[in-house]
Amino acid sequence: MANKLSTIYTCAHCDAQFPKWSGRCTSCGAWGTLSEEMMDEKDRQKKELKIAPSKLISFSEVSGEGLKRLAIGVGELDRVLGGGIVPGSLILLGGEPGIGKSTLVAQIAGRLAAAEAVVYVSGEESAEQIRSRLERLKIDLSKLKFLSETNAEKIVATLETARPRLVIIDSIQTVYSSFAQGEAGGISQIRASAVKFLELAKKNNIAIILIGHITKDGALAGPKSLEHIVDTVLYLEIENNHEYRILRATKNRFGSVNEIGVFEMTGTGFREIADAGSVFLETDEVAVAGSAISAIIEGTRPFLVEVQALVSKTVFGYPQRKTSGFDLNRLQVLTAVLTKRAKINLMNQDIILNLVGGLKINDPALDLAACFAIASSLSNVAISRQTLILGEVGLGGELRNVSRLEERLKEAAKLGFKKALIPAASQPKADGLKISKIKNVSEIVKHLE
Ligand code: TYD
Ligand code: MG
Repeated sequence: MANKLSTIYTCAHCDAQFPKWSGRCTSCGAWGTLSEEMMDEKDRQKKELKIAPSKLISFSEVSGEGLKRLAIGVGELDRVLGGGIVPGSLILLGGEPGIGKSTLVAQIAGRLAAAEAVVYVSGEESAEQIRSRLERLKIDLSKLKFLSETNAEKIVATLETARPRLVIIDSIQTVYSSFAQGEAGGISQIRASAVKFLELAKKNNIAIILIGHITKDGALAGPKSLEHIVDTVLYLEIENNHEYRILRATKNRFGSVNEIGVFEMTGTGFREIADAGSVFLETDEVAVAGSAISAIIEGTRPFLVEVQALVSKTVFGYPQRKTSGFDLNRLQVLTAVLTKRAKINLMNQDIILNLVGGLKINDPALDLAACFAIASSLSNVAISRQTLILGEVGLGGELRNVSRLEERLKEAAKLGFKKALIPAASQPKADGLKISKIKNVSEIVKHLE
């Protein structure tokens, strides 16, 4: 009897599954993302029948030796990874085409190849193309091995014999498995190949970096299905105004996910920006009304950020509130607090609030800076670019303390700031900064004169 094949349709965007095809995914609303996947019922049943019990082991028999991280020696990279690459871990590096993923992994490979066996697998570029990139990056070619192959089973077989410490797969979208349906880059192929690499990584203690291209709207193709398979998900992003690239861990089984690494793309590859506290600030030195500078903490490091407000008289109807990078609901609350407690009338004003640099931040410490930016734009009085503003605003207009205040102040002092406006209740040590304390948002107007 022929095997019963059943077909399911999987959304490439949210991974929802449907028995019927339709033009639009009813789960996430994306258009044209459903694709066919075959399931062999009989195979599945067979697999389920052959269950042999596994052996239990005690943790005391497990050695911790294998977990000694491969430190890359670039502070920004190691920090994002939580101290280096964990042997046997599967890492997904996502980013838009052209952002520098191949360059970054080539540099990682180059640095590690000196001490460890590293294999670069590419289905995207030829050995010559990669060689020319490596030469441009001034990487010692003698230690690196290359494999031009797109079949997952062949890659796994080759690596099982070669037994390197680190493997780079550039990219997961070009790899296909002989045991999965659909074409390379399709969701079932990506998932099947990733599972193969996961087995390879765990069985042989080989660290693997999978490169994954992301689609225009920012999702990795087949995102959900890969993110739960891998140990670490890294995104390489471009920072809006500048030439900086930000490496961010959105999942990390072996480290914190709040860390970001800041890099600059140069003629010879990435260069780390270790002193990155000011990368999100506008480089312009002239103070403009509507702009206020505050500080956030990402992972272990403080960064200065700029809040910009544009307040203009509502011409018609209901006043508009728009934000980018800042929580819209928070803006509504702050607007109400300013109107009621600081007697700053915003009832007939449109407000646009932005965080410079394409950041999305949900840190209450920015409240006071947002209030200052709004008041500054309304009154057309600029705030000095050497003033740091920090504080959480309560509904009564009162100011609340900010976490890790001293670290934020220290970063500002280091970057040449002269003054800081902080909540009255806090007692920080702040060398080099003139501290002004604020009890309530009603004092904002006084500070703007
Ligand atoms: P690439 O790593 O190929 O991007 P991805 O793999 O993410 O698609 O690099 C993309 C860009 O980086 C390319 O436009 C050229 C530029 N680049 C530099 O500026 N300096 C360099 O040293 C290298 C290797 C690339
Ligand atoms: Mg590439």
